[in-house]
Amino acid sequence: MITEKSQKLFEESQKKIPGGVNSPVRAFRSVGRTPLFIHHAKGSHITDVDGNTYIDYVCSWGPGILGHAHPQVIEAVKSACDRGLTYGAPTENELILADMICEAMPSVEKVRLVSSGTEAVMSAIRTARGYTGRDYIIKFKGNYHGHSDGLLVKAGSAALTTAVPDSSGVPASYTENTLVALYNDKQSVTSLMETYGEKVAAIIVEPVAANMGVVLPEDGFLQFLRKITEEYGSLLIFDEVITGFRLGYGGAQEYFGIRPDMTTMGKIVGGGMPMAAYGGRRDIMDMVSPVGPVYQAGTLSGNPIATTAGIETLKLLKAHPEYYRQIDENAAKLAAALEKRGERTGVPVTVNRVGSLLCAFFTGRKVNDYDSATSSDLEAYAAYFGHMLEGGIYVAPSQYEAMFVSAAHSDEDIERTCQVILS
Ligand SMILES: Cc1ncc(COP(=O)(O)O)c(C=O)c1O
Repeated sequence: MITEKSQKLFEESQKKIPGGVNSPVRAFRSVGRTPLFIHHAKGSHITDVDGNTYIDYVCSWGPGILGHAHPQVIEAVKSACDRGLTYGAPTENELILADMICEAMPSVEKVRLVSSGTEAVMSAIRTARGYTGRDYIIKFKGNYHGHSDGLLVKAGSAALTTAVPDSSGVPASYTENTLVALYNDKQSVTSLMETYGEKVAAIIVEPVAANMGVVLPEDGFLQFLRKITEEYGSLLIFDEVITGFRLGYGGAQEYFGIRPDMTTMGKIVGGGMPMAAYGGRRDIMDMVSPVGPVYQAGTLSGNPIATTAGIETLKLLKAHPEYYRQIDENAAKLAAALEKRGERTGVPVTVNRVGSLLCAFFTGRKVNDYDSATSSDLEAYAAYFGHMLEGGIYVAPSQYEAMFVSAAHSDEDIERTCQVILS
């Protein structure tokens, strides 16, 4: 595998861009390699600047549920571009997309479009505080909700592998209203609520944790969060930036049958463009400016190109419910191969999977929380990553990210991937 051009670009990029990348996990640091610079991608495949093509399971960290450059999405985007890139004024597209989101997730009665998951979560928290008149929020250790100051506490994703769980540059006063509970540990939530419950605006949770690898909620955990937030008059926020439109068209809330008060979305909802959303009960969302006193705004919010990509993506997902069965079955095949690899090599592997989200942890322990997730052998992960890459398979360059299966992965892709896993 020749990666000369990627290496050269990486050297040059590091002179002008911190670490040579615009988002830390892309730097391949935790697997000790040079990042691939991508030239193009189509369907299930991604091709780097040296001409190497890989079967892609990063899928841009989640948005690519249809694979890359789906013709219907691309056509619609091209045609939208001809009408102008941004107006800073309302468009019919925003209404169409809002309707689609509210229909997909009935707990979302009103929704605001923004430009990134970080912005969606930051704004949802502000709205929850404005609505309840309370300051505290509870988040879970290893859950990642973007990089806004108040949430960069015991975060997951690249904040785990870069060993900066608490980022420098965040004044202590900005996080003093953030309380941290343990995922899947009801007692840790109960204790915090007993002390602070009357002052807790919201509990925010990734309904499936997908930023410390993939960690599923244990039976009853999400129901428990629903109940305890109701008891204390706090809001329950589901961060569905990853799970939204992925676990099913109605996201994790449909999958697990829970109705949160607020939901944040990103990734798939923007169809590969920088777009995200937050929404929830009408009375809560009516706190947002210009109706209510919670200020939130954005020059490019509801951008016509991004909404076009989002609408076309959701249209395709809605028209093809069989995609969800297909990606679930394919992910199950990959999970089985990863487990078999563990048996064959003698290197212990625990595979967690729900629907098309999966992750191999190199540990003999059951992985159901932050401590068990971080018990994974990172060197073993790096070796597995290198093996996959050499075999033409592009998986996340970090233990603490998910493997995403898309509707573009063919039977041959899955078969080939299983062969490489087992080779
Ligand atoms: C659950 C979750 N919330 C929020 C975010 C932040 O989204 P963005 O990277 O678009 O700011 C992410 C990003 O991966 C995420 O996984």
